[in-house]
Amino acid sequence: MEITKKFQGVYDIDGNVATENLNQGIKVYGERLVENEDKEYRIWDPRRSKLAAAILNGLETFPFKEDSKVLYLGASAGTTPSHISDICNNGLIYSVEFSPKMMRKLADLSQMRKNIIPILDDATKPRNYMNLLQKVDAVYSDVAQPNQSELFMDNARLYLKEKGIGILMIKARSIDVTKAPNKIFKEEESKLKTNGFRVIEKVKLEPYEKDHMAFICEFSF
Ligand SMILES: C[S@@+](CC[C@H](N)C(=O)[O-])C[C@H]1O[C@@H](n2cnc3c(N)ncnc32)[C@H](O)[C@@H]1O
Repeated sequence: MEITKKFQGVYDIDGNVATENLNQGIKVYGERLVENEDKEYRIWDPRRSKLAAAILNGLETFPFKEDSKVLYLGASAGTTPSHISDICNNGLIYSVEFSPKMMRKLADLSQMRKNIIPILDDATKPRNYMNLLQKVDAVYSDVAQPNQSELFMDNARLYLKEKGIGILMIKARSIDVTKAPNKIFKEEESKLKTNGFRVIEKVKLEPYEKDHMAFICEFSF
């Protein structure tokens, strides 16, 4: 087995991306566990997590450090948040989700992973959770909604630290199924730019996710 480090807390194991398991022996979504020496790794599935897909497709900007504070929008049952929880094992992942059904699963996960703070709320109303969080090093957004860019920018303006990084996963078909995805990506990019966000990097998520693009940006205060 060959293990190399890709980013802090992220590993390449024989061509797979993986994180070191914060909860040894426990799987979150049926992922494969791999033991090596005294460590256990969780294979990060790029078909279940857009962040893993972006990493495999060459993502270079990686804002997640051991002690990072992250605002995660659209946390669902916690698949991707769980890997960020492995990486930011001394940080906090404020995880916003508005579906009560998903939140029940996320709340269970947060019992085992103390760095995941579940927030049952609507990410289009970021002031609702103002009393629950501090400024963050990164805002990660994956909500698959028509207003996904606006929601991301509203949260980033309020909560992102100066020099913080935003990652916005755009699903073109959630914005307009009739338009060409590349046209949508251009329109969303120009929205980001006119609103003061500087796009540092763009990564397409094919073949893992069709018609998706990861936008990595900074906000100019
Ligand atoms: C594509 S799934 C997220 C998958 C998750 N990010 C992962 O990788 O593990 C999108 C999630 O966003 C949630 N969502 C959509 N709009 C939202 C909103 N306005 N506020 C909070 N959550 C929202 C949905 O309920 C759904 O669980």
